[in-house]
Amino acid sequence: MVNKENISVGEEAETVKILTIEPGANLSAPEMRRAAIEMLEGGGVIYLPRSGFELSERERELISDTAKILTRVPDVEDGRPTIIFDPARGRIKKYHYAQVRGKMMRAQVRDTARPDIEAIMARYGKWAEDIITQLFPSYQGPLDRKRVTYRPFSRNSTQSLHIDSSYGYPTQGRSMLRIFSNINPANRPRIWQLGEPFEPFVRRFLPSVHLSKPAWFSSILARLGIVDGTKTKYDQYIAALRALGMRDKDYQRTAPRKVMEFPTGASWIAITDLVLHGAISGQHSLDQTFYLPVEAMNDPSHSSLRILERLTGEVLV
Ligand SMILES: [Fe+2]
Repeated sequence: MVNKENISVGEEAETVKILTIEPGANLSAPEMRRAAIEMLEGGGVIYLPRSGFELSERERELISDTAKILTRVPDVEDGRPTIIFDPARGRIKKYHYAQVRGKMMRAQVRDTARPDIEAIMARYGKWAEDIITQLFPSYQGPLDRKRVTYRPFSRNSTQSLHIDSSYGYPTQGRSMLRIFSNINPANRPRIWQLGEPFEPFVRRFLPSVHLSKPAWFSSILARLGIVDGTKTKYDQYIAALRALGMRDKDYQRTAPRKVMEFPTGASWIAITDLVLHGAISGQHSLDQTFYLPVEAMNDPSHSSLRILERLTGEVLV
């Protein structure tokens, strides 16, 4: 049977929408807030070309030479490993590993640089919270501020289009709201690709999803402290869809996309388990992750949780 929804011959494929907020614009103006929340919850990206987060001259100089801040620079250039800052503890996580070409690696910050890097990341987290509360005041109470990520390493290989899955930090149906900033001291842009809207992506891969691990498996891992909280069916679906999309070479070659260049000093905001994205190149970016309960959204039906529940016919949290 031919499903009409899968045919898009001759039509201009739809990609993620972008709202640009010009420098100096009032983020608290009612019409600005309305446009921002509609764009964000609708699966778009909010782009602030000059958002105002800045490093001091000394900080710029420090990060200009990664050998000054890290004990080891990896020989693969895919932007990993990253440095994670936990705002609740006010500290960089010491043992945050990433798989870099089969090897487990971590970004080990030099003792001499640690206070400065922690200060930058702490300041960034507060700044990010301030921007988000100005633009989305209705999120303020329920919004949960999680980790800050710093990517000191260069990326020179294109990351497949994907939605974010939270691995060790299940969102349990909450949306992953993230604000990113390019802080490259040599004015190198951060380049991303942005894909199609969430729903056509899900419709394409949903028939291939087979959830394997039962919920009890995840709750044991959570109880042992291996993961931070139990993975719900929602987390499992998101992880499965992400993996299917990333693995599908044909999809990655032909999927609708547009390329965005974010210069130094720019920031951008998106719900990253709703927006298909992938980094192409860049070095030195910061981002702050928040978890947002869907009930706190202006229109929860736009959330990836509610879209997935509608398409699967299941309750997922
Ligand atoms: Fe991502």
